[in-house]
Amino acid sequence: MTQDELKTLVGLAALAYVRPHTIVGVGTGSTVNKFIDALATMKDDITGAVSSSEASTQRLLAAGIAVFDSNQVDSLDIYIDGADEIDAHGYMVKGGGAALTREKIVASLAKQFVCIADESKLVKALGVFPVPVEVIPMASKRICAQFAAMGGEAVVRQQDGAPLVTDNGQHIVDVRGLVVADPLAFESQVNQWPGVVTVGIFAHQRAHICLLATSEGVKTLGFKLQP
Ligand code: 5RP
Repeated sequence: MTQDELKTLVGLAALAYVRPHTIVGVGTGSTVNKFIDALATMKDDITGAVSSSEASTQRLLAAGIAVFDSNQVDSLDIYIDGADEIDAHGYMVKGGGAALTREKIVASLAKQFVCIADESKLVKALGVFPVPVEVIPMASKRICAQFAAMGGEAVVRQQDGAPLVTDNGQHIVDVRGLVVADPLAFESQVNQWPGVVTVGIFAHQRAHICLLATSEGVKTLGFKLQP
């Protein structure tokens, strides 16, 4: 099975977690796009979605699914999103699509985070995929220097020859060469640096379940709640 077929499979499998008459938290990325396409088949059974990016909002609206602002809801039953990496504890690297801050906000509203991923995303230790960090532009040079002091190599993500601008009007720093041995501590540490909007380590906001698409089918990995 191709990676695209695995993403389609797991996007469809996530429908089992969507309860009728609820508002669903929706992530961002190519795997989530498959989920949105599947969700369109039950658009008349759900109240709508809270979206984590302009891209997902456009796809949801095109599918005929109502999109609510996050401030219009008190909480969500579930949040469904992909990951760049996920480990055996449900800790993740996210932000390859530059939507990490809104993803973390919507995830924080949800009682259950369901990660949908193909088997290439399951890792022993986080950090092979460059860790994205959303930053306020005037702080990017100093934040890159702080990562260099930790042994990482940080660069401002580019798009069409200029720094990529996120949905929030900020920049993304991608950090290579770090093994994130303690994701909870790493997330807490980096998040308190001045100018960091959020780091793309999802440890405090980890997944409760991962639906992992493999060539043998979709496996469900369960993770304990907060340690
Ligand atoms: C976007 C994300 C995505 O969930 C992550 O990049 C995975 O994307 P894909 O499903 O395209 O592999 O964090 O900010």
